[in-house]
Amino acid sequence: MAVQIAPSILSADFARLAAAAQSVEGAADWLHVDVMDYHFVPNLTLGRPVVEALHKATSLPLDCHLMIDDPDRWAVDYVEAGAKSVTIHAEAAHDVVGTARAIRSAGARAGLALKPATTFEAYRDVLGEFDMVLVMTVEPGFGGQAFMAEMMPKVAQARRFLRDSGSQLWIQVDGGVAADTIEECAKAGADMFVAGSAVFGAHDPAQAVQALRERAQVATPATPATPAAPA
Ligand code: DX5
Ligand code: ZN
Repeated sequence: MAVQIAPSILSADFARLAAAAQSVEGAADWLHVDVMDYHFVPNLTLGRPVVEALHKATSLPLDCHLMIDDPDRWAVDYVEAGAKSVTIHAEAAHDVVGTARAIRSAGARAGLALKPATTFEAYRDVLGEFDMVLVMTVEPGFGGQAFMAEMMPKVAQARRFLRDSGSQLWIQVDGGVAADTIEECAKAGADMFVAGSAVFGAHDPAQAVQALRERAQVATPATPATPAAPA
């Protein structure tokens, strides 16, 4: 599992989004874009027009995290706006499977996000419809919150499920991921790391991405060798 770093634009200067995105080009793998609606979470950020503008302004693929009510209705809009990955919240979707299928048929990767109180177990059976599971390591809504280490068993559970099922799902963590927490996320089995304040709060965002990547790579467990087929 290769380490991927997705800086969250939520912690950037909203008057200079293009410059913020460009500052991590060549260093980051994705740009994480948090869409919030004042309903699913008590915050309001940006929507489709800003995603379209960002798509034109950066070569980085956009990873849209929809913290909105009724994502079933809006998810495909974000694919049309240019997102290469669209993540919906399990708690907000009415038809998790139908929405995943709609995202994929529109041409993007589909992600399923789990709030801290939502169990992995409850959604295990639908994960075949997704390309990524997002284990939230804070309550969604705001950047700069304290990392919830108690979510690591959920990450480990997701990693065990992947090993047992042979699934190619990516495991993303989001919230409080920084130099002092990314290693435990990698050890638990995460392979895609969202970081907002740790990147855009840094003096040199690209260097912060590189430093996070190195820490995650060192902490990532070696994948067990595939047993040789009997002769
Ligand atoms: C929070 C958002 C995160 C946020 C993370 O609800 O989903 O993507 O930007 O910010 P940090 O890394 O500062 O916790
Ligand atoms: Zn996010």
